[in-house]
Amino acid sequence: MDIYGENRTLLDAQAQALVRDISAFRETLRSRYGDDPVEHLECRIKSDESMREKLRRKGLTETAENALYGVHDAIGVRVVCSFLRDVYAVRDYLVGLPAYEVVEEKDYIRHVKPNGYRSYHMILRCGGDLYAEVQIRTISMDTWAALEHHLKYKKTINENTALIVSELKRCADELASTDLSMQTIRDMIMESEELYEDPAG
Ligand code: GTP
Ligand code: MG
Repeated sequence: MDIYGENRTLLDAQAQALVRDISAFRETLRSRYGDDPVEHLECRIKSDESMREKLRRKGLTETAENALYGVHDAIGVRVVCSFLRDVYAVRDYLVGLPAYEVVEEKDYIRHVKPNGYRSYHMILRCGGDLYAEVQIRTISMDTWAALEHHLKYKKTINENTALIVSELKRCADELASTDLSMQTIRDMIMESEELYEDPAG
């Protein structure tokens, strides 16, 4: 049987509420600045199989109770932003919402994982004491994470392992440097648009 049982409806409802809240923020910024901070958004309930695997890994029994409250990522939302500053704008917005209590934050952008992984992670306590894991990242960070995840399953230890690890890290760092440049370019465009709208200052 599915580990969530009858709780799945609760999880779905909470996940949808979180997505709605983020959509409201997108709508606000779109109408205020004509710019959507979010490039795309994914939302999932952790599959039965990977939830059971995670509970086993944590030494927890495979119950609905533990799936909902023993671990904190039954609900997972990934927010992919075009620009670096948008990542922090989404983070600040979520922190400011009274519906959620932030119980954990990991800034893997300022504190990059040794393999090069970058992303902003939050665990939110939501209504009904459910939890959600929110990952906020740029398109570049998302691209790297997807490719690295893909390669993980093809990894066999061989004489090139050290080189593969360091090349992956190099790619992550190059993408991060591009993110900074793109943010700078965007800032320049925004600045010149402001000048155009109001040349008298
Ligand atoms: P858990 O016990 O699994 O919750 O680990 P944790 O609490 O240390 O989780 P963390 O916040 O570090 O990462 C949770 C999720 O982030 C993972 O399930 C992945 O989706 C993603 N993630 C973290 N590190 C990496 C990484 O090195 N590569 C990729 N591709 N994804 C990562
Ligand atoms: Mg986690």
